[in-house]
Amino acid sequence: MDEPGARHGPVPTAPPVPPGMRIREALQAARSMGLDRHDARRLMAHVTGRGSAWLLAHDDEPLAPFEATRFLDAAAQRAQGRPLAYLMGERAFHQLVLQVDERVLDPRPDTETLVDWALQCLQRPGAPAVPWVLDLGTGSGAIALALARACPQARVVAVDRSADALQVARANGDRLGLPVLWLQGDWFDDWRTAAQDGQATTGDGKPGQAPTQWPRRFDLIVSNPPYIAEGDPHLPALRHEPRTALVSGVDGLDDLRRIIAGASHHLAAEGALLVEHGHAQGPQVQALMEQAGGRPFSPRHDLAGHWRCTGAGWMGPEPAANAPAATGV
Ligand SMILES: C[S@@+](CC[C@H](N)C(=O)[O-])C[C@H]1O[C@@H](n2cnc3c(N)ncnc32)[C@H](O)[C@@H]1O
Repeated sequence: MDEPGARHGPVPTAPPVPPGMRIREALQAARSMGLDRHDARRLMAHVTGRGSAWLLAHDDEPLAPFEATRFLDAAAQRAQGRPLAYLMGERAFHQLVLQVDERVLDPRPDTETLVDWALQCLQRPGAPAVPWVLDLGTGSGAIALALARACPQARVVAVDRSADALQVARANGDRLGLPVLWLQGDWFDDWRTAAQDGQATTGDGKPGQAPTQWPRRFDLIVSNPPYIAEGDPHLPALRHEPRTALVSGVDGLDDLRRIIAGASHHLAAEGALLVEHGHAQGPQVQALMEQAGGRPFSPRHDLAGHWRCTGAGWMGPEPAANAPAATGV
């Protein structure tokens, strides 16, 4: 969960805004604060409402004073490590645009690997026609909403312990019109009670629409839980994001242990659990899945080639006609 583009060292502050500051000059000022070219241009596009082609062709134009002030202020915050997504209020994720802020983790492109893998599982030959999917630790709703969009036949349930995060996720679901069921809970512990109490809300903005028939078990469980170790040297660079979304015990595996230990009690026959984790945690996560009775799939690697997603299939409580595919798809 490294946050690229932000520099460390002395904290830059926004320089005073000279009258008639041109786009080119403002971009240069942002670069001298430590922003990379890409971030500076995206912030400028956001502040001015102009596309990148227009900005390139008109970089001699003066900014309105309020635009220059807003841009330089945002650039100073970016230089101090605030995620670009928070400054812009949105993040593109798996063909969706999600609204995000400090209440949720800024969704990472690497997590699209987990979504793609989940979709392969849901769309493999012999997969249930109407699969039940559980996203544990949904944050902004990124994984749940991406799955609901790309696999409309799936019934997607999303859990987070943070009421703040669920507000963001629910608002994203409402805005995108995607029918995810949002529940507050501590991993597996509360979803059944919350569902029975009618606390679920769907993406159409109408509260209390819990389905009349909840599943006993899920066909697929996905999770990108907190997995950074307390004291990890990368944590200061991630200080703008909720600590509860990042840190998980002394070795970073506390939450993964709980999720993996609970999975078999909540998976249907031939169900699968797919999780994201740190790039050095793959062997431990796979071993935990095997110890919990799972049959590991071939792991998946992120955009940089690191082993970042691990999954396994469980035969489940009922006799299964077919074993889970060994490849995990
Ligand atoms: C790494 S973030 C992932 C957010 C989102 N799924 C994504 O990929 O962008 C982990 C999420 O797990 C949630 N979380 C942490 N502990 C939890 C728990 N015990 N039960 C449920 N959710 C939890 C956090 O609030 C946070 O939203």
